[in-house]
Amino acid sequence: MLELTAVRCFPLLALSAFLATGSATLLSPMVSVPARAQIAAASDVEARIDALLANMSLDQKIAQVVQPDTASFSLAEMTEYRFGSYLSGGNSGPGGDELAPPERWLALADAHWDAAMVPHADGRPPIPTMWAIDALHGHNNIVGATLFPHNIGLGATRDPDLVRAIGAATAIEIAVTGIDWTFAPTLAVVRDARWGRTYESYAEQPDVVASMAGAMVEGLQGTPGTSAFLGPDKVIATAKHFLADGGTGGKDQGDTVASEADLRRIHAAGYIPAIARDVQTVMASFSSVNGVKLHGDKAHLTDYLRGGAGINGLGFNGLVVGDWNGHGQVPGCSVSSCAASFNAGLDIFMAPDSWKPLLAATTAQVKSGEISMARLDQAVRRILRVKLAAGLFDKGRPSSRPLAGRFELLASSDHRALARRAVRESLVLLKNNGNLLPLKPKQRVLVAGDGADNVAMQSGGWTISWQGGGDLTKTDFPRAQSIYGGIVETVKAAGGSTMLSADGSFTAKPDVAIVVFGEKPYAEFMGDIDTLEYHDDYKSYKTMQRLRTAGVPVVAVFLSGRPMWVNPEINVADSFVAAFLPGTEGGGIADMLFAKADGGIAHEFRGKLSFSWPNGPMPPKLDSSRDPGTLFPFGYGLRFADHSNVGSLRETAPPGRAGDARIAVLGRSGLPAAWYMWLAEAGSPAVPISSNAGSSPSGALVLRGVDRDRQEDARLATWRGGTKAQIAVTATRSLDLSTPDQALVIDLRVVAKPTGKVMVGVTPASVGMGKKPNSLLADATALLANGPGTWRTVSIPLRCIGRRAALRAVNTPFVIETAGRLSLAISDIRIARPTGLGLKCPARPR
Ligand code: BGC
Ligand code: BGC
Repeated sequence: MLELTAVRCFPLLALSAFLATGSATLLSPMVSVPARAQIAAASDVEARIDALLANMSLDQKIAQVVQPDTASFSLAEMTEYRFGSYLSGGNSGPGGDELAPPERWLALADAHWDAAMVPHADGRPPIPTMWAIDALHGHNNIVGATLFPHNIGLGATRDPDLVRAIGAATAIEIAVTGIDWTFAPTLAVVRDARWGRTYESYAEQPDVVASMAGAMVEGLQGTPGTSAFLGPDKVIATAKHFLADGGTGGKDQGDTVASEADLRRIHAAGYIPAIARDVQTVMASFSSVNGVKLHGDKAHLTDYLRGGAGINGLGFNGLVVGDWNGHGQVPGCSVSSCAASFNAGLDIFMAPDSWKPLLAATTAQVKSGEISMARLDQAVRRILRVKLAAGLFDKGRPSSRPLAGRFELLASSDHRALARRAVRESLVLLKNNGNLLPLKPKQRVLVAGDGADNVAMQSGGWTISWQGGGDLTKTDFPRAQSIYGGIVETVKAAGGSTMLSADGSFTAKPDVAIVVFGEKPYAEFMGDIDTLEYHDDYKSYKTMQRLRTAGVPVVAVFLSGRPMWVNPEINVADSFVAAFLPGTEGGGIADMLFAKADGGIAHEFRGKLSFSWPNGPMPPKLDSSRDPGTLFPFGYGLRFADHSNVGSLRETAPPGRAGDARIAVLGRSGLPAAWYMWLAEAGSPAVPISSNAGSSPSGALVLRGVDRDRQEDARLATWRGGTKAQIAVTATRSLDLSTPDQALVIDLRVVAKPTGKVMVGVTPASVGMGKKPNSLLADATALLANGPGTWRTVSIPLRCIGRRAALRAVNTPFVIETAGRLSLAISDIRIARPTGLGLKCPARPR
């Protein structure tokens, strides 16, 4: 097999261009780090690897290729098994605390390092371990870090120098916490914005992704061939998810059906510049290409990715890491055993919680020859090569490294200024009728909408927790500025005044209103949606309409992880700004909305859409200039000087939308967009949770994500008993459930049988302010009597729950409550024709 071992040479031109444009912004003045002494010649590196390999035991080698998650191993286990690397997934803060201060992350880095470096009993030298994390828009798992706009916004800037500087700032913040490796950048070329990871993508077009990919990798790792490469202020980067994760038709972990030519032209576009910048690692995608899971696809994962010019391959020379138990999805494999994936070219299994049986299975497979020793040595060689390139053998304990513990560099003023500039450049002006923008700052400005003063919402998913949003509050963002905060700063300085009013109501009439609204945070499959229609039950629309009717001009600021069908909202606003997910520097928005005090332009809009904006609920056809499904084409973005007038847009959906015959209440990929789940207890206010974990006020009911087929595609609810506690799902609109013969159909698994009566049902929409309607419930205890059990489907016919007339307007399509103890896993809830085990209900008056 072809294996390139030479260190790539870099054209001097690229290097000097980089120095001229990027270097001034790369390091804040406070950061000065010694350069790496010298770059080892490729032959020296390979000789050193030979020597290391010759001295490693089989156990030591296998430990290099299995990567556990910090939530699932102890320090003692690190010493016992010596994992070659480990990760912290999106919900894996130190000691299980996602809000842990940065000091604890660094202390944990030391603890793991020490545990890995305990001398071996047999005298063999320990191999340094390395720690990986998802720093996708800044060092986003760390409280107090700078959060930059998500990639969709960076794509709109069309500014690779900015992106390179963001990579460099992110690397510095990661180095402060003693972490070695980031699982970024995502190089997906997302062709259908219904995918929940659209915001991780720079653009729907390969050339924009390609222009950002090399810049981000260079920012994170440094310039190859220079002494700065992987120096102390740099981290190992990952190009992910290989290959064609963005081509699955909007489905997470789906299948991309494409010709080999399109795979290369569209989906490989970002990998070419990333590999040219010597990206050290590539992550295999969960998804498939033409029906073959990438985790088992040797043709792409090895032959194409690593092949040289001869087979028109990409010439990658680093290591391939798997995705979260992704090997388990290869036919014939399980999460705890998968020789096929390793033989196809996976060098490191990401085995967050499956590492222990996987170590044993992989050892047995090497012993039996199912995995050859040569293949194992090859993977370990690649891993050691990355470790040597990153200087891990010389770097010492994490806290002893030059930037470690310099916590003042997290959200330093330089990094915040850079993020604020990125926000300015990323905003796309979609409508500016009557040239309302830029606004005079010296006026009375009303700020409305639930995104106005909400840093969690403006930051999106992968923010402190995996899903972001949820329970995060202001105090979890100590150094951030909300959009409202930025507006106050600008307007006050100019002598104007502001009022914050979530619903837009006012006593003194404002001169202008800014309404900030949009999607609530989500990540991965939890963000998959069936249509691009934005709905918040016309809440923001009504707010804007009331303001317009009162004669107040309205600026809409839309926060979203993708372009959406928002024609009604665009119609009702005078100006409309697509802000995507700007991150912690909300001040960048005021910078763009307001003129200077003297009326001059403060900052010109320069953002251009990196995704076509839809003119209906279905995604536009790409690469067709006159698709009626496109409202604003790729590349669109107004400037102040454009005297464009956006006329009245069609507000009704074209026919053929998903009907309500089957209503998904809770899918394997979470709730429908903007729906909420509540946990309630008798006598205390209900707690809304938008992610999959939480607990009721006194902890009588605890919910957490568990795996059924995919990670966290199910919820485990545990009732402690003693107090009546309830889970409810609230929709954004009222649903007509009066169609005959429908049922609440639930996929569930009884983990511990109920000790009391369990009631299941729905709650009708409220009949008026302050009047709380009663839930309509049926006794479902009989359906849960067999436990502990396996997954099955149960149905509760709606006629067991209430009369048809009462089901005409329901806004809470699922309620379950008990005062007893019960532990129940739930993966899917829908209103549909009954299937599975059905509840027999007494005949009721119709
Ligand atoms: C995601 C990856 C991520 C990994 C580790 C997976 O679910 O697909 O993008 O790097 O988890 O958190
Ligand atoms: C995410 C991880 C997260 C995990 C939770 C994965 O898909 O990428 O970061 O912690 O799911 O089970």
